[in-house]
Amino acid sequence: MNRTHSLALAGILALLFSGCATSTSPLPSPPSPPPAPHAIHPELWPPAAAPLPLDPVMERAIDDLLGRMTLEEKVGQVIQPSITTIKPEDVRTYKFGSVLNGGGGWPGDIRKATPADWLALADAFHEASMDTSGGRQAIPVIWGADAVHGHSNVIGATLFPHNVGLGAMKNPDLIRRIGEVTAAEMSVTGIDWNFSPTVAVALDDRWGRAYESYSEDLELVRVYAEEMVVGLQGSPNTDDFFSRGRVIATAKHFVGDGGTVGGKDQGDNVSTEAELRDIHAQGYYGAMRSAVQVVMASYNSWHGVKMHGNRALLTDVLRGRMGFDGIVVGDWNGHNQIPGCTNTSCAQAFNAGIDIFMVPEDWKGLYETTLAQVRSGEIRPERLDEAVRRILRVKMRAGLFTAGKPSERGFGGQFSRFGSPEHRAVARQAVRESLVLLKNDRGVLPLRPGARVLVAGDGANSIAKQSGGWTITWQGDGNENEDFPNATSIWDGLRTAVQAAGGRATLSSDGSYEEKPDVAVVVYGEDPYAEFQGDRRTIIFNAPRDLSLLQRLRADGIPVVSVFLSGRPLWVNPFLNDSDAFVAAWLPGSEGAGIADVLVAAPDGAVRHDFKGKLSFSWPKLPTQVVLNRGDSGYDPLFPLGFGLTYADRATLSRLPVDTAGISVSDSSAFYSGQPVPPWELVLSDSASVRFEREGQEGQAVHWTGPGEISLRSNEPVDLTRESNGNLALSVDLMRRSAIAGRVELAVGSGSVDITPLVRELPEGAWSTVRIRLRCFERAGADMRSIDRPLRIVSDAPLSLSFAEVRLVAGTDETPCP
Ligand code: BGC
Ligand code: BGC
Repeated sequence: MNRTHSLALAGILALLFSGCATSTSPLPSPPSPPPAPHAIHPELWPPAAAPLPLDPVMERAIDDLLGRMTLEEKVGQVIQPSITTIKPEDVRTYKFGSVLNGGGGWPGDIRKATPADWLALADAFHEASMDTSGGRQAIPVIWGADAVHGHSNVIGATLFPHNVGLGAMKNPDLIRRIGEVTAAEMSVTGIDWNFSPTVAVALDDRWGRAYESYSEDLELVRVYAEEMVVGLQGSPNTDDFFSRGRVIATAKHFVGDGGTVGGKDQGDNVSTEAELRDIHAQGYYGAMRSAVQVVMASYNSWHGVKMHGNRALLTDVLRGRMGFDGIVVGDWNGHNQIPGCTNTSCAQAFNAGIDIFMVPEDWKGLYETTLAQVRSGEIRPERLDEAVRRILRVKMRAGLFTAGKPSERGFGGQFSRFGSPEHRAVARQAVRESLVLLKNDRGVLPLRPGARVLVAGDGANSIAKQSGGWTITWQGDGNENEDFPNATSIWDGLRTAVQAAGGRATLSSDGSYEEKPDVAVVVYGEDPYAEFQGDRRTIIFNAPRDLSLLQRLRADGIPVVSVFLSGRPLWVNPFLNDSDAFVAAWLPGSEGAGIADVLVAAPDGAVRHDFKGKLSFSWPKLPTQVVLNRGDSGYDPLFPLGFGLTYADRATLSRLPVDTAGISVSDSSAFYSGQPVPPWELVLSDSASVRFEREGQEGQAVHWTGPGEISLRSNEPVDLTRESNGNLALSVDLMRRSAIAGRVELAVGSGSVDITPLVRELPEGAWSTVRIRLRCFERAGADMRSIDRPLRIVSDAPLSLSFAEVRLVAGTDETPCP
């Protein structure tokens, strides 16, 4: 029997070895020297509107407090551990200035933790931070969380559409209201600080975080950033600023995250300085107009220099020119990616302008090193004071010194507000307004009163799928409908509305039926993902099962409405062709019922809610249009930015070309890269065991112990004929961890080769890259036209091996087959 392992485990390892070495040679370890920094000209960056001048009284209070703090207390302020690795006692001891929970970080590690549990832990942290025994200063700790589409780590929260959908609403007032509701639900649970909004301008839709971006249109991003921050924090210079139930906002990730080469998450942005300023920085200008109090540094590099170490941008530009006077927080172990840094030591990032280290697990080591670096002068005391001043300033502005403990301030403990009908109504409105109608031939929508409606597709009754990543768990995986007590699936909404209009709805996820329906609504699309796990090489939506479902229904003479769930525009020409109507529904969140509000007519046949959504990202005509943005030369989308039909439009979409010749339809060149590359999954035989090694941010290695087998498998086999003909090789980074007692085989599909001697030669405990040409597996019997297992390792005796990075690479003819 096989078990499928999902790799949503945390953490992750910077395996420094992609793309080097020939067969079985040990990997070179010394990284190449850092490139010389690309020049930045701060004088070319205009100042941001700064609505909030420094308050001299507050600054004097900060001077006074700084004067009373010990060095240890100051260093504690700049360290941010995860709530899953510390106890309130640690906050008392180390006087941490802040804590965080990441995606899938819950109080007590209990996923079902209630809002009351969150609040109780927030109180405990707060009380520990306010303890003045032994002459300590009382400085309230703040707790940050990713409430990126509602307070989504907490069961029962109102979940809004992800940003890609909010962009399609083009409704800044509603954005503000969404910020307000999100803040209110955070406040109920005692959390003070939101790591949101993401103000990236995503330019390459292959980026796994494209859905966190409001738009490719920088103006929309700028306006939304401004409004979202007002919603979260309140309006600066009014009584509303940090009034009851508001939280601290964060504009992230500074700067250029949406413009990396190939849409690679944490990759390199090679735009000009002017593009960086005029495109990628625009969201920060917007957020600063509403006095955003925190900016998060980005994992990405600019011309090869990681932002966490980029002093010119973090300090000279952001603080100096733009005039940002709040906190610059680092991203999750983002500092360790700077050459010379580790999780536990990085004066460079601090000196470059990071005020708070986000260091989920390794806080103790980092605290000690940072303290030593201040003592030795590697970090100047003035720089430490500057960072702490900013942290104290934000806490004072947010009123936290005097507000009492979380359960006594804001909406702390007002649990009836959490996932309340009023909040859900806001989310439902957002769902309605975000839907973009791309096709509606012969007016198949709205669904008529009295219709018999078949509701099909794997997204129809899956609140997890409609919610996407950053939902309860980091990747949004492992969730069931029961995990969403205050939510409706798309099916729930359709059933209710169809019945109310005198019709009958039937749920059948595979589309089978007994009585022929009048119309079918098929809900399908991308499965949840977050961050780099969502990176793709192609924008082709490749789902043969869904496509044949559409075709089957149409062959039976049933008009088909596609409701497409996705975090980005994808090339879906075959699906458009086989749909009578096509709705881009993005990742709507908890209010699936908002879809029926628009799709289903009233009992009298009237439209209840018309389509309002307009594309905030250009929709591709060709599978090669991976970077497609208004203003590009030769801009030729299928549907341009701003497109969206209404019920008044009588357009018919003619048949679209579906040619993908020469383009790999699935992401066939990488199978495992820090995690299984979808659609591949790890499968393990019962006699074997596996664990994942994590460290850093970039990936996890699989540590496998046999006898038995482990493989990467998908039920959507790929055709590797071209690759095999082209003499590509399977490349696996391997580490032998034990002696070899029996026979070891490596297989692609059903072609298996004996790698016992090869593995025996590998140095124990060190990484090596092993390359074997696909042709070797073909010779051994693999049918390259249909490969469902591009990697299978089998050992008949005990053996311990680690692997990482499994991909196809250019091979050489000379390498003999094993
Ligand atoms: C994410 C966190 C998540 C963690 C899991 C990080 O990269 O940002 O939110 O919880 O990985 O390891
Ligand atoms: C992500 C951030 C997030 C942080 C904390 C990081 O991996 O890049 O967006 O705020 O984790 O979860």
